[in-house]
Amino acid sequence: MRGTIAMVVLGLLALAGCQGENGDGTALRGGLPVPEGVARKADPALLAQGEQVYRQHCANCHGADASGAPDWRKRDADGFFPPPPLNGSGHAWHHSTEVLAGLIRDGSPDGKGRMPAWRGRLSEQEIGAVIAWFQSLWPQQVYDAWYEMQQRGR
Ligand code: HEC
Repeated sequence: MRGTIAMVVLGLLALAGCQGENGDGTALRGGLPVPEGVARKADPALLAQGEQVYRQHCANCHGADASGAPDWRKRDADGFFPPPPLNGSGHAWHHSTEVLAGLIRDGSPDGKGRMPAWRGRLSEQEIGAVIAWFQSLWPQQVYDAWYEMQQRGR
C-alpha cells in the first residue's frame, strides 16, 4: 500500500515537472524571475523590488496605480498611443512574459511610439521584478486567463 502511494506521488511530481514547475508553483520563464500560478504574490522581496523600479521609472507615464492614461485606446494628435494600463484593466495580459519583457527591453515596436527602451538601463532581474509587481495587481480572473494562455503556448 505504501509503495502504491509513493508511486502515485512520484507520478504526480513527474507530471508537475513536465509543466516546468518545481512543485510549489514557481517557474522561471526565459530566465526572468517571474513567479507563476499560486506563487505569483509569494515573493515579497521580488514584489518590493518591482514596485520600486515601477515608481522610479514607469509611474510618471503609466500612472501611480498603473491604470494608464484615461484615453489610452485613442491615438494622440501625433498618431501615438498614450500609455496603457498595466494593472490588468488593459490588454497587457494578452502578452506572454517573454513578449512583455521584450516590450520593456525594446520599447515601442520599430520605435513608432512613446514607450522607451530599457535595455541596458534595467537589468533582467529588474525587468522580471517589475513584471511580477504589475501582475500582482491583476484581478485573479485576468491572471487566470493569462496563465491559461501561457500554459497553452508552451
Ligand atoms: C515616457 C512614457 C513611458 C514610460 C516612462 C514607460 N512607458 Fe511603458 N508605455 C508607454 C506607451 C506610450 C506605451 C504604448 C506603446 C505603443 O503603443 O507603442 C507603453 C507600453 C507599455 C507596455 C505594453 C502594454 C500593452 O498593453 O501592450 C508595457 C508592458 C510597458 N509599457 C511597461 C513599462 C514599464 C515596466 C515601464 C518602466 C520600466 C514603462 N513602461 C515606462 C509609455 C511609457
